[in-house]
Amino acid sequence: MTEPSHFLQWITLSKANLKHNIGIIRSHCSSRVEIAGILKANAYGHGLLPMAQLFRQCGLGIFMVHTLDEALTLHESGSKERIILLGPVAPAQIPLCLKKGFELTVYTQEILSAIKKAQKILSHPAKIHVKIETGTNRQGLDLKNIPDFISLLKSIQYELRGLSSHFANIEDTADTSYYKKQIQCLKHAVRLFKKGGVQPDSLHIACSAAVLLYPETHFQLIRPGISLYGYYSSPEVAYALKPTNPLRPVLSWKTRLVQIKNVGKGDFIGYGLTYKAMRKSKIGILPIGYYDGYDRKLSNQGYVLVRGKRAGICGRICMNICMVDLTDIPEAKTQDVVTLLGKDGKESITADHLAAMTNTISYEILARLNPLIPRIVE
Ligand SMILES: Cc1ncc(COP(=O)(O)O)c(C=O)c1O
Repeated sequence: MTEPSHFLQWITLSKANLKHNIGIIRSHCSSRVEIAGILKANAYGHGLLPMAQLFRQCGLGIFMVHTLDEALTLHESGSKERIILLGPVAPAQIPLCLKKGFELTVYTQEILSAIKKAQKILSHPAKIHVKIETGTNRQGLDLKNIPDFISLLKSIQYELRGLSSHFANIEDTADTSYYKKQIQCLKHAVRLFKKGGVQPDSLHIACSAAVLLYPETHFQLIRPGISLYGYYSSPEVAYALKPTNPLRPVLSWKTRLVQIKNVGKGDFIGYGLTYKAMRKSKIGILPIGYYDGYDRKLSNQGYVLVRGKRAGICGRICMNICMVDLTDIPEAKTQDVVTLLGKDGKESITADHLAAMTNTISYEILARLNPLIPRIVE
């Protein structure tokens, strides 16, 4: 692909790599299992609408988002897919959700009451996924509250699209006992619903780690997020799988060298004088900083790729700018493309690398990429 000359930074999304990842995910489950495209958090930082378009082109028919804003953005862009909200909705927004046909994650009677109130005026049925508390102690309906919940549920117009839950510790492959307890708990909830005369259309709990490692968690619908985007949920998951044909990151992030300057031995670089040149050095200036999602903890320890070689970050990452050491890349020129995430020749930088350097996880590195950076689909 030719690099765009009119952007100083851009994110590229690889359809080929997404297809590859979907193929890998499919190879781990039965053909009857449906894959939801997880688009929350601006599609894990990749860009909500471009990723929705790519998921659509790759045949995914169910989209999951966290917020109502994300659901509305998809809807307004013309999305015809099922849209499931994983996160909470304000009771005052329930009428809008019903009108738009969004599927809601419900786990309190308060929201059922808001639906009941809305249906006094609107005739739309509520499409519901009841989220069961199975041990993560995040969103979830406690088993002991299920009978009362069912009574209220029966007083509204509803379609029970699913019972769901979320794993707390599935990435810890050394001890599988907790996820197994969570599955048992979800199955018990299904029995309680059936006892109350209510049958859900589907069960769903499997995130990426569960999808790739534990088929008994798949049920009818799976919710792989990070692995659609080309990453393993944790080093333990990658280690357990030992993949011969690994997932491939969908996203690359590039910028350009906007200035090159020579500094003398002993000169300081950047705020706080945290970097002192130990030799005559050639310093490259990049037009990206922590505002763009390049973590300030990468100050003096991250690196980028220039002409297929590593160039270390010198000094502190600024809000919109950072500096790199080009002394060992004398051929570098202004306007050269610089890789922040992705491949250049034999070298590559992944979100896992940046996460290791900043004491976080790939999810955070990706999700914090500034939504305003242009996205280009390859
Ligand atoms: C409710 C829910 N389901 C599925 C996922 C996807 O998880 P993963 O990216 O680990 O596959 C997430 C991500 O945080 C989530 O919150």
